[in-house]
Amino acid sequence: MRNRMIAGNWKMNKSYSEGVVLAQGLARELEGGTGDVDVVVCPPTVDLKGVATVIEQESAPFSLGAQNAYFEESGAYTGETAPSMLTDIGATYCIIGHSERRGYFGETDEDINKKAKALMAHGIVPISCCGESLEVREAGKHVEFVVDQIRKDTEGLVIDDPSKYVVAYEPIWAIGTGKTATADDAQEVCGAIRKTLAEVFGQEVADGIRVLYGGSAKPENVAGFLEKEDVDGALVGGASLKADSFAAMVKAAM
Ligand code: PGA
Repeated sequence: MRNRMIAGNWKMNKSYSEGVVLAQGLARELEGGTGDVDVVVCPPTVDLKGVATVIEQESAPFSLGAQNAYFEESGAYTGETAPSMLTDIGATYCIIGHSERRGYFGETDEDINKKAKALMAHGIVPISCCGESLEVREAGKHVEFVVDQIRKDTEGLVIDDPSKYVVAYEPIWAIGTGKTATADDAQEVCGAIRKTLAEVFGQEVADGIRVLYGGSAKPENVAGFLEKEDVDGALVGGASLKADSFAAMVKAAM
């Protein structure tokens, strides 16, 4: 049995003070609880402490996630954040392998695999992103492409508790474009992801790993994705920047 998950990726939006206000607004919207839905908020690094404080003070029913981490423990890596620093600040999730990091910052599957291992060694749950470009989709190679990413990103990982590893399928052509994949498109790839996870980790583990859809997910369309067998939630960009729209998506998942 997989609990659904709604995760918000604020990307490079919201200053420290704006982040606190958004987290407070979300805490108010969700004060009745989120049922069986796991809710995660991933603000920019400089906002993490502020959001952690809101979660603690308001006993907010959501968890804190980072948007990136480095795989080394400490040292001369200017500008980077170590997994232990995230743990110390109260983050329990971390997005890795987002297409914006792969595209703009040259992250490779090997980097993403190392990041997953480093995070899991510190008890942080990776939300590991994958997804194809429009070019790959139009060539009809999207399933093959994503399956290859999954194999590389999970190589050598040890997953004892499947609730501690999350995959997000985010077709690049649907991110921030307003162009969503259909629920059937999402199911096709999320189903292939689960099948690959079963080949790598065994069926029982694969059945416990949450596979999220991301890419222009919003209150109006999230229910359609959630109806699909292998779609366990959403990774939400734009619609996570307003407390009411993000809360509406959580409620749609409850
Ligand atoms: P979007 O972003 O919801 O704004 O399309 C999703 C993501 O990139 O995680």
